[in-house]
Amino acid sequence: MTARRSAWIESLLDANANAIAIAAERLGTGDPATLLPEESAIAHRWAPKRIAEFAAGRECARLAMQALGLPPQPMPPQPDRRPRWPEGLTGSITHCQGFAAAAVARTGALRSLGIDAELVGALEPDLWPRILGDEEQQWLARQPSPQQRLWATVIFSAKEAWYKCQNPLTGWFLEFHEARIHVQNDPGGQGEALFDLLVESRGIRLPGRGGVREGVICTAFTWRE
Ligand SMILES: CC(C)(COP(=O)(O)OP(=O)(O)OC[C@H]1O[C@@H](n2cnc3c(N)ncnc32)[C@H](O)[C@@H]1OP(=O)(O)O)[C@@H](O)C(=O)NCCC(=O)NCCS
Repeated sequence: MTARRSAWIESLLDANANAIAIAAERLGTGDPATLLPEESAIAHRWAPKRIAEFAAGRECARLAMQALGLPPQPMPPQPDRRPRWPEGLTGSITHCQGFAAAAVARTGALRSLGIDAELVGALEPDLWPRILGDEEQQWLARQPSPQQRLWATVIFSAKEAWYKCQNPLTGWFLEFHEARIHVQNDPGGQGEALFDLLVESRGIRLPGRGGVREGVICTAFTWRE
């Protein structure tokens, strides 16, 4: 398996980005041989599983950069784990078991973006009170019980995507209860379910989008102005 352009994740980013972000995704285990020297110099001490997911994310990011017409460039992690994007670019990387993705955009087009992928149902019910606020838990309780674990994980994923979108711009470290996620509409989906999201966090309201495909949830936020 190698990385490929992701129409799915681009459709999640289109919610408020007008197709100005490019996304790529990859199934399977990442190949450490695809890392560039500046990246492997940092990663070589890590456990093999961590190196593989790191490589899978970088491979996706480089494919997306190539689609923007850019040559392969390193994206070493900064001390806080944020990728160092090449000058003039912003982006986001995510991985969960068997899946990795990245999205990039020119900073002239988007100030920031955040994407997050989770396996459906990954958020165990005993963690819900830590991750979800009162209103989110009340909303969840109104959903059909077989779907509650899915929606709890969607909200968790959206908080992670929002964190990755805002942190490079604001420097904020947010607690989970400092963001409230609204799931705006659920088409009740046959196949690829797509839904609109809204995050409210420290006075900011930003639309986003989420989707579920083949057991993977992905959520995305873009910050334009
Ligand atoms: C950073 C964090 C969001 C990553 O999410 P995750 O679901 O654990 O893991 P993912 O695979 O989806 O994403 C990991 C990628 O996020 C990116 N990332 C890490 N820190 C980041 C930051 N501060 N800003 C933007 N992106 C970041 C990296 O590219 C990382 O992959 P890499 O290390 O291979 O490069 C999460 O671990 C974290 O620390 N969260 C802080 C607390 C929080 O989320 N609060 C919720 C606020 S509402």
